[in-house]
Amino acid sequence: MISPEQVEQYRTQGFLVVNGFAEEQECDALRERAEELVRQFEPAQVSIFTTHEQSRIADEYFMTSGDKVHFFFEENAFVADGSLKQPKESSINKIGHALHDLDPVFERFSRSDKIKRVAKAIGFEQSRLVQSMYIFKQPNIGGEVSCHQDSTFIYTEPTDIVGLWFALEDATIENGCLWAIPGGHKRGLKSRWLRSRIEGRMAFEFYDPEPWPENELVPLEVAKGSLILLNGLLPHRSYENRSPRSRHAYTLHLIHAEASYPPDNWLQRSSSLPFRGF
Ligand code: FE2
Repeated sequence: MISPEQVEQYRTQGFLVVNGFAEEQECDALRERAEELVRQFEPAQVSIFTTHEQSRIADEYFMTSGDKVHFFFEENAFVADGSLKQPKESSINKIGHALHDLDPVFERFSRSDKIKRVAKAIGFEQSRLVQSMYIFKQPNIGGEVSCHQDSTFIYTEPTDIVGLWFALEDATIENGCLWAIPGGHKRGLKSRWLRSRIEGRMAFEFYDPEPWPENELVPLEVAKGSLILLNGLLPHRSYENRSPRSRHAYTLHLIHAEASYPPDNWLQRSSSLPFRGF
């Protein structure tokens, strides 16, 4: 599935693009399933997902989504009175964070042999799937995700996790593709996002106050079906989608089976649904 040269590239750059990883039909099946889930979703509870700290704080719906299938709206989906500007189908930012355990269509894809093989190739022999997200990056209103490391949010010891980012549609600069700093994973962890002692509160703990050298970001434009592997320490981001085209993606995060997963990470599981491997 991936060559030793590609594994080496992952090690030195902190990311790897695997073109043509998923079949067209596999991408379409995930898209159709996500659309179906959104159709069934009754937005009684609304959570706006943004990486800006304030809107996440004390957001119970977000904080309890680690072992559920929850729906989060684009920040720009609302008018001043709090009602949606457009139908819910065009307003959802993402679905998270346990699709891979709770939805049969996403579970089948997430635990497929080819994903297992890629994970093994980059050193995740025995691993646990901790998080899944379906990201819509809606036309015209798709929000930005500021520069970050995934290990800030999914911290383990040792600090080695991998994000798998599947392009379910072509991702271009125009519709808000990923951008990454090649080799940036070697600069260490900048911060952690911690559950503080005050119940339900989150706070960043900083280890390195330097801003990201965002002039070093390169766009990762990929075709539908591509997989991008992202080292948890790799700084990456995406810009707003102001184009008329959506940019759907599905993401998974893997940790080593033997790694310790601290109780002050935001994403937690109830004892009835522990993290599982493949
Ligand atoms: Fe990320």
